[in-house]
Amino acid sequence: MIRRNRILRQSPSVRSMVRETILQPADFIVPVFITEGQGTQHEISSMPGYFRFSLDLVVKELEACYALGIRSALLFVKVPDELKDNTGKEALNENGLMQRSVRAIKKALPDMVIMTDVALDPYSSFGHDGIVENQQIENDKTVEVLAKMSVSHAKAGADFVAPSDMMDGRILAIREALEKAGNHQTGVMSYAAKYASCFYGPFRDALDSAPGFGDKKTYQMDPANRLEAIKEAQMDVAEGADIIMVKPAHAYLDIIREVKNEVKIPVSAYHVSGEYAMIKAAAKAGYLNEEQAVAEVLTAIKRAGADLIATYFAKQMAQTLKK
Ligand code: PBG
Repeated sequence: MIRRNRILRQSPSVRSMVRETILQPADFIVPVFITEGQGTQHEISSMPGYFRFSLDLVVKELEACYALGIRSALLFVKVPDELKDNTGKEALNENGLMQRSVRAIKKALPDMVIMTDVALDPYSSFGHDGIVENQQIENDKTVEVLAKMSVSHAKAGADFVAPSDMMDGRILAIREALEKAGNHQTGVMSYAAKYASCFYGPFRDALDSAPGFGDKKTYQMDPANRLEAIKEAQMDVAEGADIIMVKPAHAYLDIIREVKNEVKIPVSAYHVSGEYAMIKAAAKAGYLNEEQAVAEVLTAIKRAGADLIATYFAKQMAQTLKK
């Protein structure tokens, strides 16, 4: 034997010397669910340990995240039923919950990178990501609203808009609308390869945004497809995306790697609600060690090629890293 591979594994010091993937708090994007009210926090039953906060408490939560080294947050709002319709009108309200949240958070934490979810599902009476006509999701009419919504978020102070809807052509439309409005510094993080996944279930509980009829398979991708993810990513780069996202993450490590190899811009991955819930449930049942499982999965997502990871474990992992 002239090559003994165990030499490089013999002690913690040697292993730390040759470690290829190291997580840091700035890798994480912390998703937050915001609701109307004051001083309220509500645990999401299918996401143990994760809360929907009123705006005052979200600010506190993000201050804690920032202190731990996390530098970006992705905002989602829960919209009251009476404000939902089929046009996304509330999504454009200058004083809507999203717009107020962006202003308040940027005021308290000017250095936190604020990203906003852009899609109609929280605002839609049908629970779909677009405008519905004859049971169909209307692509081009939806894109018009998404572009206006993005400008509205940018005007409120969002650093990045994050379209999660999977309509065609929306990245170009959003970039053009931002330019026209003078928001030259606002970035676009595109959910480029977003799969029609069962792992979004707990998220839909959190925002009460489950589709009222059918499913999302006419716009989100078929989990069986790989080449399509590369095509989506390349097109969104060409349309002006600054960051490309793959979603979900844990079950799609191959896609993260392939997209990373293809595009020359940062790649993010969304470790989604169901992927969070699985680890929580297994840990609660005593089947695995939560802290180790979280570290291993997030390291795997980074190793696969994710420069950024949106994860509900962001704060918890940042706390672990601090120890
Ligand atoms: C909706 C949206 C979803 C998620 C992010 N934005 C759900 C969906 O597409 O139905 C899922 C996030 C998660 O499950 O953590 N545009």
